[in-house]
Amino acid sequence: MNILDFKKRKNEHRKISMVTAYDYTSALIAAKTEIDVLLVGDSGAMTMHGHSSTLPATIDMMELHTSAVVRGAKEQKFVVADLPFLSYRKDLNSNVAAAERLMRAGAHAVKLEGAAGNLDFIRHLVESGVPVMGHIGLTPQSVNQLGGFRVQGRESSDAERLMTAAREIESAGAFSLVLECVPSSLARQITQALTIPTIGIGAGPDTDGQVLVWQDLLGLNTEFQPRFVRNYCTGAKIFADALNSYAHDVMSGDFPSLQESYE
Ligand code: KIV
Repeated sequence: MNILDFKKRKNEHRKISMVTAYDYTSALIAAKTEIDVLLVGDSGAMTMHGHSSTLPATIDMMELHTSAVVRGAKEQKFVVADLPFLSYRKDLNSNVAAAERLMRAGAHAVKLEGAAGNLDFIRHLVESGVPVMGHIGLTPQSVNQLGGFRVQGRESSDAERLMTAAREIESAGAFSLVLECVPSSLARQITQALTIPTIGIGAGPDTDGQVLVWQDLLGLNTEFQPRFVRNYCTGAKIFADALNSYAHDVMSGDFPSLQESYE
């Protein structure tokens, strides 16, 4: 998958699969799968660092996770990295410096949230050779402004605002757009209105692609199960069972065996 394939996939009605990744080992696993895109999401502040929102993600954190994922992806996957909270809301030089750190860490594109106040920056990045993925709907970096993690675009005025934002982000040069937690009908309308692909999370079946968080997809997070998540395995239970087996084998003396020891 490269940047040109995104539009191609939309035009050919072939869906795009994206999953978040934050570390080398996970990226190594994903690199050998049919997943199209890895997103080094700022959700890593929550899933990897235990924070209650994405706001504590920093450019240092994102750069570190991006370089680990890129090493694991081994040029097999298109890697998008999130610009973290406020890192692209400063002066142009600082904003570019933030994007530069993620691109130099090996990302193929950056993602940023919202349209208002970001359009000139998106244009500037695109003109500078940096592909940009937009993100509207529930934009977690604005959780304090939105009053919580809640579905966006239910009111018609809100839906119109999101449609306008989607068109503006496309016009500014973004190559794709994440739609997070919006009603399916609105996601369908936005998807039909744009020539760039939409990638949904909690946005119903009619977007051009889907994205899930690694821990949700693999059932590693037993504390959080929103309606839009499907667990494709019971990862937390599989890991816990394996850890218990190991602990029992250590206690019983069954591990290590002679074959697992040096003469
Ligand atoms: O950070 C993240 O995981 C994201 C996805 C939810 C799209 O932005």
